[in-house]
Amino acid sequence: MKRILHTAIVLLLCMSCSGNITQQDTATATTMTTSDSAQSSAQAASGSTDPEMDRFISELMAKMTLEEKIGQLNLVAVGFDVTGPVVSQNVEENIRKGNVGGVFNTFTPVAARKLQEMAVKHTRLHIPLLFGYDVIHGHRTIFPIPLGLSATWDMGLIEKSARIAAEEASADGLNWVFSPMVDISRDPRWGRVAEGAGEDTWYGSQVARAMVRGYQGEDLAKENTVMACVKHFALYGAAEAGRDYNTVDMSLLNMYQNFLPPYKAAIDAGAGSVMTAFNEINGVPATANRWLMTELLREKWGFDGFVVTDYTAINELVPHGLGTEAHVGALALKAGVDMDMVGEVFLKHLGQQVKEGTVTTEEINAACRRVLEAKYKLGLFEDPYRYVDEQRATNTIMKPEFIEAARDIARESMVLLKNRNQTLPLKQSGTIALIGPLATSQRDMIGNWSGAGDWKQAVSMEQGIRNVAGNKVKVVYAKGANITDDAQMLERLNAHGGELQIDPRSPEQMVSEAVKVAKSAGVIVAVVGESQGMSGEAASRADITLPGQQQELLKALKKTGKPLVLVLMNGRPLALQWEDENADAILETWFGGTQAGNAIADMLFGVYNPSGKLTATFPVEVGQVPIYYSYKNTGRPYGGEKLDKYKSRYLDVPNEPLYPFGYGLSYTTFEYSQPKLSQNTMTPGETLEVSVTIRNTGNYDGEEVAQLYIQDLAGSVTRPVKELKNFRTVSLKKGESKTVTFPITVEDLKFYNRELEYVYEPGEFKVYVGTNSRDVKEAGFTLQVNQ
Ligand code: BGC
Repeated sequence: MKRILHTAIVLLLCMSCSGNITQQDTATATTMTTSDSAQSSAQAASGSTDPEMDRFISELMAKMTLEEKIGQLNLVAVGFDVTGPVVSQNVEENIRKGNVGGVFNTFTPVAARKLQEMAVKHTRLHIPLLFGYDVIHGHRTIFPIPLGLSATWDMGLIEKSARIAAEEASADGLNWVFSPMVDISRDPRWGRVAEGAGEDTWYGSQVARAMVRGYQGEDLAKENTVMACVKHFALYGAAEAGRDYNTVDMSLLNMYQNFLPPYKAAIDAGAGSVMTAFNEINGVPATANRWLMTELLREKWGFDGFVVTDYTAINELVPHGLGTEAHVGALALKAGVDMDMVGEVFLKHLGQQVKEGTVTTEEINAACRRVLEAKYKLGLFEDPYRYVDEQRATNTIMKPEFIEAARDIARESMVLLKNRNQTLPLKQSGTIALIGPLATSQRDMIGNWSGAGDWKQAVSMEQGIRNVAGNKVKVVYAKGANITDDAQMLERLNAHGGELQIDPRSPEQMVSEAVKVAKSAGVIVAVVGESQGMSGEAASRADITLPGQQQELLKALKKTGKPLVLVLMNGRPLALQWEDENADAILETWFGGTQAGNAIADMLFGVYNPSGKLTATFPVEVGQVPIYYSYKNTGRPYGGEKLDKYKSRYLDVPNEPLYPFGYGLSYTTFEYSQPKLSQNTMTPGETLEVSVTIRNTGNYDGEEVAQLYIQDLAGSVTRPVKELKNFRTVSLKKGESKTVTFPITVEDLKFYNRELEYVYEPGEFKVYVGTNSRDVKEAGFTLQVNQ
């Protein structure tokens, strides 16, 4: 398997770091050849506005051979085994020959320094390497999976998680992270919903910006910032039937309106690089799609960074059906790819293709320049060892304030889905029956895509309860069920580092033990869900109910008559109809990261009050997907009448989801007033204000995320029933009221018309304010435009 697991990081002796070149050195050592076509194409290649950088790179490129330029376009993977970094002969030799522009899957200052020295000391032009890695939700200190992070509705915290990840990664030998993943997805079967910010384009765009800001900070050349890589460009989350890597076919209108904005937001925030997607888009795979990477990304959006492919995505153009390897390599380059991840198609074929005239030196120059610019922006020519300081790593990685932040962010990410009769919070007394396959798990807490995270340092749920409640509660435990009893599924999960073990006892034995344990307690806390490997890449599921015998376990527990609290861990929206009907309380905790167990215990015992809200709709059942709140009305909207046959509805399930987008309860309750508008008509230059008073009507202090949705009642193209346009978080003490005000300008009313222009149109609008996308109060206004 391509991905190498980082089971151990071994400290190697630091090699000496002589042989640095500096931007100054290279520049002065160069004899300028003014005729270099690379220089003249500087502007065209990148649209750069930094003449210093252009001059430096032109001078460097003037000295490079064609082979060295092609080498810069080659990204190799170098991993670890139990004894340390594995550098295959081939890679080492290629680095020394100048055949490598960057490496990924290698970190620690020692390992990165070793490879950087090979490039800097032993290649002819001493060009430093990029060091990339999948830093997705934290580097060493692991935060909740991105879907969970997005449920915080707190851009400050999301940015902070990326900032901490950048601090750790940059201290650990890395200067480039393969994040943020901003693919919108409306299909929970797709395992990679875990990696994104959910279903909504406006919300996803806010998260994209926050992540880029967190990684890149103000200055990419600073030692504690890293270059972001926005992925997967584009539309990867719209794979047919939720099956990973599958075909995408989508109207331009849907694309522009709903799927492209988060990529654009990340690019506008300054993201330095973009990763292509595996899927095709309307017949042309993204990695060979010139319209996407050149016309849209560079020419329309003004992107001036570099484009890397996804893992072997150029090679995969062959089975996609675009032709031979050599041919697809040329297609990818011409389409706008600058760097080939792992596939070595560029390395193998481009030289020959230049000779044959199928690829031009200008095309290679343009790609090479962009890769070199990234290195320049990161300050690598000034100091190639900027990111390999062991002392900084020791001082930075998993420092106490990062661990505290991980606990805080995990708490904010949790969503209370149900709380009948105020079952939660639990009292810190009596006996708790802690039951379920995830109750003692540490591995699952950090989720997947947590390659540098050490799950052995993660706090399990059981440990968290002990840490928070100490001896005040007695905890009795039974596993109750395996996450899965399916031997094939287990084999698949464990083949790629699942660390999932099956209890050999029969389901009946396990359930009967659990029931016995439950009977001895005052309350049951059942910790159920998916294992971490059941979501993420190549982890689509067609059945999105609780896997294995877990529901059977819950049914048996329910029969004890004891209050039943579910703590869920999962990487996607699940179909939880039975659970919703039968459990007394449900707390969605995702995979909460290094501090998950402590954070969950904080919530269960009411040390903190939940305020997270879903960013992806939870369906009643899988047959409803794709399901999302901002759907179109259709010509036959179903209004709820029982026998109304010829309406857009199912015979067997409702249209409505189980838990809508934006949904999440608190231990307290909130009441919303009718929204008040500052005026009933507005003109394009004006700002209309919507105010609503929110009162804490329950028994706890709490925090509420008030959401603003807008509906355009008639347009030149059909518009969704509502779209999120803003939100505000308010803290309210018990009994307290506060008024929140949302400004609305025409920017909030814009959409893509048939000509794909981003416009507003006059007419009637509805405004909805509420605690989620379903439970809202409405008002209306008219936009008047003088023709
Ligand atoms: C994934 C990317 C990831 C890359 C490198 C691919 O399989 O789709 O998200 O960044 O591997 O690990």
